[in-house]
This record gives sequence, structure tokens and C-alpha cells, in this order.
Amino acid sequence: MRRPAADLEGAARLVDLDRYPLLDPASPGWERAVTSAQDQLAAIGAAELEGFLSPAGLAEVTADATAHEHRGYRSEVPGTVYLELPDRQAPEGHPRRWTGRAALEAVAWDLFDPDSPIRALYEWDPLLRFVEAILGRGPLYRYADPLGGLNLAVMRDGDELQWHFDQTDFVVSLAVRAAETGGDFEVAPRIRGPDDERYDAVAAVLAGRHHGVLRLPMRPGTLLVFEGRHSLHRVSPVRGPTSRLVALLGYDTRPGTTSSDLLKQVRYGRTVPVGAAPRP
Ligand SMILES: [Fe+2]
Repeated sequence: MRRPAADLEGAARLVDLDRYPLLDPASPGWERAVTSAQDQLAAIGAAELEGFLSPAGLAEVTADATAHEHRGYRSEVPGTVYLELPDRQAPEGHPRRWTGRAALEAVAWDLFDPDSPIRALYEWDPLLRFVEAILGRGPLYRYADPLGGLNLAVMRDGDELQWHFDQTDFVVSLAVRAAETGGDFEVAPRIRGPDDERYDAVAAVLAGRHHGVLRLPMRPGTLLVFEGRHSLHRVSPVRGPTSRLVALLGYDTRPGTTSSDLLKQVRYGRTVPVGAAPRP
């Protein structure tokens, strides 16, 4: 039986539990939601769980995100397709040589208020179990990284994230607010394989030939589960005065995942949590 939202504890009140019954893993609704997401993953490597947040939940999460968005650290760096240094030995026009631009702000996990609804969602076990069921990769764990576990990615007028492949098997994100225009998530699904880099196909996308590229429109309140290791993807340049807000929820199949000090320095401008004593 449906409980009034006011009776639900913590993060449960934010979710459309009729559509996504996260508190009832044995229910047919849970099975339906998981199977539908798995079908989407199998088809295009991305599962869009539209309307994951209820309208009231989305309003709360948006207010939370706008309260936190000015705490972000701004980084603007050249970025490559493979998230490594560009290969200057590669011939002109080769994807290993290509660089784009990553310009965005990131609010780290340790900067979220203790009563933040976004933080509550990330730290809520039923969501972890639900994503775990969708991915079917065994138990999942939250990142151990006090900065990188949960992020709010803030993209303002002119910001973008260059074409790249992820170095992780999957990413979970929650769309909070779209920009006026631009800020589209564009994906070339499975353009490379584990043993086939398909440089020609990658080079074609980089050169602006977007045949086969999908544009996943940003629908606030949608939970996205994305497998980005073999799918080339980017966030197109944001235009207009409204910032694009997305929460990134860091889960991994191994406990204790953290990011390198170099990555923390680039993304957050620091390597230790706020209030922590600096390392000797
Ligand atoms: Fe990515």
C-alpha cells in the first residue's frame, strides 16, 4: 500500500515509488523497472530512468542543487578522447592526438550539507541495491573518496565536456536542471570494442560526422545508468544563463575506490577533505 510521502524516511520521499518501488525489491514493479533498464543498457549502453524523482522530489533536489552550485571548483583543461596525454607521435588527425576542452565546476561530496537531499539519495542503500540489480555486476560499493564519491557537476554558459571514453565501466547520474540550449549528452554507442579501437569511426565523429550519434535529451528527474568505456560521448557546449546541473553518484564493484591526487587536484583544486589536516 502506498504511504504518504511525509511518512517516508529520508531519501525515499524524493523518489516516484509507484514507478520505481525501491522499498519493495520483491514486487513486480521492481522487476519491471529493473528489466526495462537492463533492456535499454543492452540496446545502447545507456538506461534512462525517466521520472525517477517525483515532481515534489525534483523540486527539493533542484533547490538543494542551486543552494550548493556556488561551492564548486572551476576547472578548464584540455582533454583527450582516452583521458590520457595526447600522443604527439600519432599522425595528424589521429584520435590519440586529438584534444578538446573540459570546462565545468564540480562540488565535491565533502561540501554537501549533512541534511542535503542529494547527499541523502547517494547515501541511501535502497538506491545502491537498485543500481546493483540493474547492472548485474555483483555487489556495488560507494566510493571511499570523500571528494569524488558524490559530485554536483555545474556547467555554465560556454562550458562543455569533450568527446571521450570513460575509464570506468559505468557511471550513474541524476539530471537536475537543463540549460536553455546545448548541454546535450551525445553518445556514439559501442563505437569501439575491447579488442578493436576503430580509430576511423572515432575520427569521423571527432571530425563532426555524427551519423550514429544519439542525443539523449536532458530530462530533469531522470536517473541515468551509462556504460561509457566503449561508447564515445560528450556534453555539447552549454548556452544561456541557466546552469546545467547533474549529480554524479560514484559506485564501484570493488570497495575502497578512490581517485588519484592528480585527478583531485585538477577537479577540486585540493586533495584533502575540508577540515582535514594537510598531509605532512
Ligand atoms: Fe564520461
